[in-house]
Amino acid sequence: MAELCNKLFLFLSVWLTLCWIGCVDCVEEAHSVVNAHGICGTFVWNRGYDCTEFIVPTKDGFLLAVQKMSNRASGTSRKEPVFLHHGLMEGGQSWLLNEPKESVAFMLADSGYDVWIANGRTTTFSYGHITYNRAQKEFWDWKWDDLVEYDISSMLHFVNYMTGQPIYYVGYSQGAMSGFAAFTDNQISSLVKKAAMLSPVAYLNHVSSPLVTAAAWLFVDKVDILLDMYEFNLSSASETQLLQTICENTQIHCQDLDLLALITGPSCCINKSRNAYYSKYPESTSTKNLAQLAQLLRSGRFGKYDYELTGNLLHYGRTFPPSYDLSAIPKSLSFFLAHGGNDPLADSEDVTQLAEKLPGKVKMLLMPNYNHGDMMLGTSAHTDVYPHILKFFH
Ligand SMILES: *[C@@H]1O[C@H](CO)[C@@H](O)[C@H](O)[C@H]1NC(C)=O
Ligand SMILES: *[C@@H]1O[C@H](CO)[C@@H](O)[C@H](O)[C@H]1NC(C)=O
Repeated sequence: MAELCNKLFLFLSVWLTLCWIGCVDCVEEAHSVVNAHGICGTFVWNRGYDCTEFIVPTKDGFLLAVQKMSNRASGTSRKEPVFLHHGLMEGGQSWLLNEPKESVAFMLADSGYDVWIANGRTTTFSYGHITYNRAQKEFWDWKWDDLVEYDISSMLHFVNYMTGQPIYYVGYSQGAMSGFAAFTDNQISSLVKKAAMLSPVAYLNHVSSPLVTAAAWLFVDKVDILLDMYEFNLSSASETQLLQTICENTQIHCQDLDLLALITGPSCCINKSRNAYYSKYPESTSTKNLAQLAQLLRSGRFGKYDYELTGNLLHYGRTFPPSYDLSAIPKSLSFFLAHGGNDPLADSEDVTQLAEKLPGKVKMLLMPNYNHGDMMLGTSAHTDVYPHILKFFH
């Protein structure tokens, strides 16, 4: 009987370790996978590029997809790694939706880099969670800090483990934001050589989209109802209803206007005839992630999730949530920040405040007629913006 108990205990503790704590050294548990329906199979091989997909576990049990893409013609000698991180309600595919000559991912591969593409937790091309599935609320129970603490950390350590080389970082929107926060940790910033950030967000003091501002304030009194939704999918019925409510409350005539333009600003350069194709790859996010963004917008802080008084004492041992200390980023890490003059989310004043707080060298590029999305999907960014990234890295 005692033996049986011991066995059961051993079995249970292994199970508990795997299922509850996740991997201990996640990097060594990562492995490659062949998936014709993954990002390589859907967007890369048919363009004539090499592509390998990996599954990278995080310490809290998510199984992220990371692709390594390169140009066959540029040889196989040890190439420098570039890591691309997508934004909110996007996945790694966002870098690959335009023609190769218009895409920064393919341009970097053509210039001889190995391009490592991040796919954050819960994105459709990632591999889910070791315990929870998409239908469970636990799957969506994560906030922005978790992207910083677990996802970015696991993926950058993995790329470093595979290449042994310093990494060039390219972040778009929330992918930039997560980078800034992650680089305040010396263990992470020591892996990174330079960072180019597109539509960079950190301080949200001057967000001028009335819809976004209204939504952020709505979170204050509707937080319980909203957090009960867990998964936030912009195209599902309850979210459409929610937007309608915001529109009515703010007297914004949403139906007369392009809803996306209300959120991301008027686009100069997105090819509208591709919108149906772009929307074939929707991504949800967690409501808690949005709740944290709403907190940051309301407070103007660049910091951790606010659990309110008792929760903060419990989680942080203090009454206010800590901020991410940008002055802790090493001076040797230099940045390129490209932002749009018509971007109501990464407002020029906020980007300037951010640039002033970064300890290292900062190069800035303002594209006056660009909105938030033009930096990623605009069809002129490959001539206006991306060559500056190549030059900055070179
Ligand atoms: C969001 O909801 C729509 C409509 O129900 C659905 O077609 C789509 O697949 C959902 N997206 C995700 C990422 O779950
Ligand atoms: C817009 O996209 C469509 C579909 O991909 C393409 O046929 C057209 O040439 C594009 N127009 C411009 C100006 O890039």
